[in-house]
Amino acid sequence: MSVAKKEYKRITTKSLVDMKSNGEKIAMLTAYDFSMAKIVDGAGIDVILVGDSASNVMAGHETTLPITLDQMIYHATSVVRAIQRALVVVDLPFGSYQSDPREALRSAIRIMKESGAHAVKLEGGKEVKDSIKRILHAGIPVMGHLGLTPQSIYKFGTYTVRARQEEEAEKLKSDAKMLEKIGCFAVVLEKVPADLAKEVAESVSIPVIGIGAGNGVDGQVLVVHDMLGMTHEFNPRFLRRYADLHAEMTKAFENYRDDVKSKDFPSDDEQY
Ligand code: KIV
Repeated sequence: MSVAKKEYKRITTKSLVDMKSNGEKIAMLTAYDFSMAKIVDGAGIDVILVGDSASNVMAGHETTLPITLDQMIYHATSVVRAIQRALVVVDLPFGSYQSDPREALRSAIRIMKESGAHAVKLEGGKEVKDSIKRILHAGIPVMGHLGLTPQSIYKFGTYTVRARQEEEAEKLKSDAKMLEKIGCFAVVLEKVPADLAKEVAESVSIPVIGIGAGNGVDGQVLVVHDMLGMTHEFNPRFLRRYADLHAEMTKAFENYRDDVKSKDFPSDDEQY
């Protein structure tokens, strides 16, 4: 049964703002390749994030830092080929926007031009304000990302909940306001207390999409491999698993292995 309040043929940045105004929650998932993106899009997910979490779940790195702009463009291009409805947002990877606004703009233009994606996302508040403004001035929609920003993991030293202390909470609130003011179309809040996230969502007109940020925000995002249960060793409190693909896939691979070894596969019907 569909729970969407209004049918959107194609999701745009404006549709997301409309959803917030209408009280319809926004469903966002990551995807990094054609086949997965086709299923995610077909299921009616509103926003597909080509996240730099590809560095972890696709390439096996410990952090998101190593993934390159070329690799992000490769993933984004594969995703864009698959979608008919979802808005595709692509992460600007670490090192592609922090040094100066001109470099940030060049990176964002490469993503938009080479992949055909619809928007970019980048991490940080006032430290990256000038870069965001530069990208926005070129007509490229920007989604912000505050709270736990994994590209800064070596500064934080831990993946624990952010903004529990007043000073950091105040900075987060003013960063969210600033992102709204300069023209970001949405902001991701990662791993912050639910009360704070709700307060932020209520204080801005742009959608706030949470991951580990409670139910008082305007939408939710999860990493697709996590919600499908493929990364079974990753168990944060915020993660709800909608399948146990690790078990399903292991069983399928074992059955295939056994069928090959026992010469059961292929059967007469499965050959020419
Ligand atoms: O890279 C990513 O998957 C993300 C989400 C966790 C929001 O940024």
